[in-house]
Amino acid sequence: MDMTPKRAADSATEMVQVVLPNDANPLGYILGGTVMHLIDIAGAIACHRHTRSLLVTAAVDDLQFLHPIKVGDLIILKACVTCVFTTSLEVQVDVFSEETLTGKRQRTSSAFLTFAAIDRGGGRLHIPPLLVETEDEKKVCAEAQARRAARLQKEAALTAMRRS
Ligand SMILES: CC(C)(COP(=O)(O)OP(=O)(O)OC[C@H]1O[C@@H](n2cnc3c(N)ncnc32)[C@H](O)[C@@H]1OP(=O)(O)O)[C@@H](O)C(=O)NCCC(=O)NCCS
Repeated sequence: MDMTPKRAADSATEMVQVVLPNDANPLGYILGGTVMHLIDIAGAIACHRHTRSLLVTAAVDDLQFLHPIKVGDLIILKACVTCVFTTSLEVQVDVFSEETLTGKRQRTSSAFLTFAAIDRGGGRLHIPPLLVETEDEKKVCAEAQARRAARLQKEAALTAMRRS
């Protein structure tokens, strides 16, 4: 793998699509599962752009749906790598609705996903570093490190519980 460090801006990804009736529940709002699918895709694209490797989704943190997005409106997903660990990395995906007729935009969800880089045999791959330069980028990465520690602690506790 090319281990040249990259900026978050190099892999930042924006996806836009119109909500069609096939994506919606009987109220005419996009299905939560469809939003989750799009979050996974947008996050994966940003991470693929950073690693240029095969990836699997290792974890998706808590997810909330703050506002419905209705048929005919746009769903916009912005994905940005927050921090690179050793063989995994975290990406933030923010979801917005945009009313097609007025342009009114609202954030409807924010999610943090972790992807692990693997080779074709399932082995782990080291990931190129993320260039963390500005104070804001340092803060974002420190927060990601804290989330990672909490995530792995939770996973270890769940594993111990399953064994007992
Ligand atoms: C994710 C997966 C690769 C982790 O494998 P593992 O043997 O449990 O753990 P490893 O020690 O090899 O960890 C690999 C990396 O994943 C991270 N990781 C493992 N479990 C994790 C979790 N629950 N949350 C966040 N990161 C996790 C590890 O910290 C490590 O990253 P690091 O090297 O940067 O520290 C493995 O559980 C898996 O393949 N899961 C299925 C993935 C999948 O099918 N996703 C949906 C379709 S893509």
